[in-house]
Amino acid sequence: MNNKDNPNQPKIAFTSPVAVQLKQGEKYYYCTCGRAKAQPFCDGSHAETSFEPLEFEATIDGTSHLCACKHTKNPPYCDGSHEKLEDEK
Ligand code: FES
Repeated sequence: MNNKDNPNQPKIAFTSPVAVQLKQGEKYYYCTCGRAKAQPFCDGSHAETSFEPLEFEATIDGTSHLCACKHTKNPPYCDGSHEKLEDEK
């Protein structure tokens, strides 16, 4: 079973972060499984996996870069981990 169909492994949605406009104090649900069509947000596609969305509250108004490779060590924010995924593409 490879990374793309293992329900216990995150799927790499994109190998670059997604820029989104967030509102300070609002709650959002970040997709941790990588299967949502509404990246970077959860749309329920994790149902057949071991993943759950990550609820977070925006701390600033404006643009944030959220992780879409699902390998960040600082979810939901991009930490540059996508640059180290060459072997998994
Ligand atoms: S769709 Fe990925 S965590 Fe919900």
